[in-house]
Amino acid sequence: MASLAFYLAVSVLLAQNTDAFNCSKAPIYVDIHKRAVHDSPVFQYGSFIGVGTPAQNHSLWPSLSQNHTSFAAHTYCGNSTLRDCDKSTGGFFNSQDSTTFSEDNNFQSLDNGNNSTFEGYFGQDTLRLYTHYFETDGASQTLLEDSTIKVAEEGSVVPGMVGLGLSSTVLRDLAARDMISGKTYSLYIGQGFDRAGGMVNGSNVFGGYDSGRFTGATYKYPMNTARLNPMTVKIKDIFITNTEDPNSNVSLFDNTKFPDMKSRPDTFEAEITTSQFPLSLPYQITQNFISHLSAEEDNTWGDNSLKLKSAFSGSLSIVLEDGFTVTFPPEVLMNASNITPVQSRDEDSTAPFYLGTAFLGQTYLMADYEQQAFYLAEAVQKNNAVMPVTFCPKGPAPTAYERPQQGAWVKQGLIGAVIGGVLGGMGIAVCVYCFVLSCRRKVAERKAEKRAQRDKQAKFAQMEVEDAMEFDPPPKSATPFFWKKR
Ligand SMILES: *[C@@H]1O[C@H](CO)[C@@H](O)[C@H](O)[C@H]1NC(C)=O
Ligand SMILES: *[C@@H]1O[C@H](CO)[C@@H](O)[C@H](O)[C@H]1NC(C)=O
Ligand SMILES: *[C@@H]1O[C@H](CO)[C@@H](O)[C@H](O)[C@H]1NC(C)=O
Ligand SMILES: *[C@@H]1O[C@H](CO)[C@@H](O)[C@H](O)[C@H]1NC(C)=O
Ligand SMILES: *[C@@H]1O[C@H](CO)[C@@H](O)[C@H](O)[C@H]1NC(C)=O
Ligand SMILES: *[C@@H]1O[C@H](CO)[C@@H](O)[C@H](O)[C@H]1NC(C)=O
Ligand SMILES: *[C@@H]1O[C@H](CO)[C@@H](O)[C@H](O)[C@H]1NC(C)=O
Ligand SMILES: *[C@@H]1O[C@H](CO)[C@@H](O)[C@H](O)[C@H]1NC(C)=O
Ligand SMILES: *[C@@H]1O[C@H](CO)[C@@H](O)[C@H](O)[C@H]1NC(C)=O
Repeated sequence: MASLAFYLAVSVLLAQNTDAFNCSKAPIYVDIHKRAVHDSPVFQYGSFIGVGTPAQNHSLWPSLSQNHTSFAAHTYCGNSTLRDCDKSTGGFFNSQDSTTFSEDNNFQSLDNGNNSTFEGYFGQDTLRLYTHYFETDGASQTLLEDSTIKVAEEGSVVPGMVGLGLSSTVLRDLAARDMISGKTYSLYIGQGFDRAGGMVNGSNVFGGYDSGRFTGATYKYPMNTARLNPMTVKIKDIFITNTEDPNSNVSLFDNTKFPDMKSRPDTFEAEITTSQFPLSLPYQITQNFISHLSAEEDNTWGDNSLKLKSAFSGSLSIVLEDGFTVTFPPEVLMNASNITPVQSRDEDSTAPFYLGTAFLGQTYLMADYEQQAFYLAEAVQKNNAVMPVTFCPKGPAPTAYERPQQGAWVKQGLIGAVIGGVLGGMGIAVCVYCFVLSCRRKVAERKAEKRAQRDKQAKFAQMEVEDAMEFDPPPKSATPFFWKKR
């Protein structure tokens, strides 16, 4: 009796955990890079998302606080203090030109948390999420029809945003319509935007994560729903290491090094945000940074990033409470103009502390909104394999793709391409074949052997990567060209 009850209880638990979400749903991958956007003279960096019918294509900046996805109206720049407004909005949306737009005058905004963002009107229209693995191929699109959007008419910020706040309407609609496994989302912001000054492109994965985009362990954190940016972490140390002398480790928390502090500062909580590039650190730690590197105030980028008086070659490492350490390499700690990714801070400021996109340029973020938790891992800067996989809500922690050691075109990342895109169909065919095989075996074998069988299948599934090496690689001449794409 007792054991029957136990098994019933266990199976009910399992059912609750797994059956609520269909973790066989493929994720939706949307890349982030520079491209032509609607009604703007310059290429802009952001998520490749269109709106309306016919499509008006935009580059939307992911927002971890805003819940609505928004587009700039043509009138925005007439009413805005945004710098270089005509080339910074992510595109312009003309709702009159869209046959699928319907305005919703009585809509109550979900974004009341930040007073000072932007004003506009709401409506429903078709969102077009583009997946574009390779420049040589066309993009494919996932249509999200009748989704709520905000059209921005007045404000001071970049108004073209994908809203990924706690009540994100895009995630809600994708999950409610069974287009992804649940409300999970992953972000690599990349470094291809002007302030970061780098080359690497980024990506969004709705309902999944790009397992080729990070390496090493993943670290899990609860969301803090009281914060405007609910993804927060606690920082216990920050140290600077001089490239010329790798043993020169100076901690900005060290009160023997910085006698202004009577004792070692406490751990502090910082919000991960995409709404600014630099870090905003507690006043005293900012002062220690200034005195250690001889920094001074500057506002070249309009974000109060500190500037060094003379060049310094070294790295800055941020140590989170659980030991996860994110290191900014020398070219990020100080760019060619001596500008750092650390913001000045007033002594009496009560603003939250922030880890901005400088931090996200080094980190892969994977968020599970269903359990209000998120994972961080070290980003792979120059991967050439796109490996989107399903991120099962409330499921096991995401795991990084392990690159096979051997094989020339494996080294070039082509296996990743095979799985990620080009030959995805073949991958599915292999899976279907495995499934058929497993069905036959299951019929033939006794129930007691099922578990062992499943283990075998899991091993076989892992071997598919090796199997794929038997496919013919693309022509040699095409290969380098191919790999410039991401
Ligand atoms: C789960 O999703 C897959 C892929 O879309 C689909 O084939 C399958 O029928 C779904 N399963 C359930 C139980 O809905
Ligand atoms: C400012 O926005 C309003 C709508 O809120 C619009 O009617 C007006 O034309 C805009 N002003 C300019 C100068 O674009
Ligand atoms: C987004 O929605 C959450 C509630 O789920 C709210 O706490 C937050 O303030 C909203 N974001 C903004 C920018 O208002
Ligand atoms: C928004 O602004 C009003 C005054 O304009 C102020 O009273 C209120 O506290 C502000 N709310 C937030 C969340 O900043
Ligand atoms: C709130 O709005 C201000 C001004 O528009 C912006 O600078 C700030 O980054 C926003 N805060 C968040 C958490 O989005
Ligand atoms: C928007 O992007 C899609 C996908 O690349 C493309 O097919 C379409 O022509 C673009 N539309 C415009 C108006 O540029
Ligand atoms: C550094 O920032 C300056 C802005 O002062 C910019 O002009 C320059 O391109 C940046 N350099 C690099 C290497 O990112
Ligand atoms: C620098 O200090 C940190 C801890 O503060 C330590 O983890 C790291 O190994 C040190 N690096 C060197 C080169 O001493
Ligand atoms: C980023 O994307 C752009 C636009 O597709 C492309 O031209 C560029 O080569 C990509 N950068 C890298 C480093 O792959």
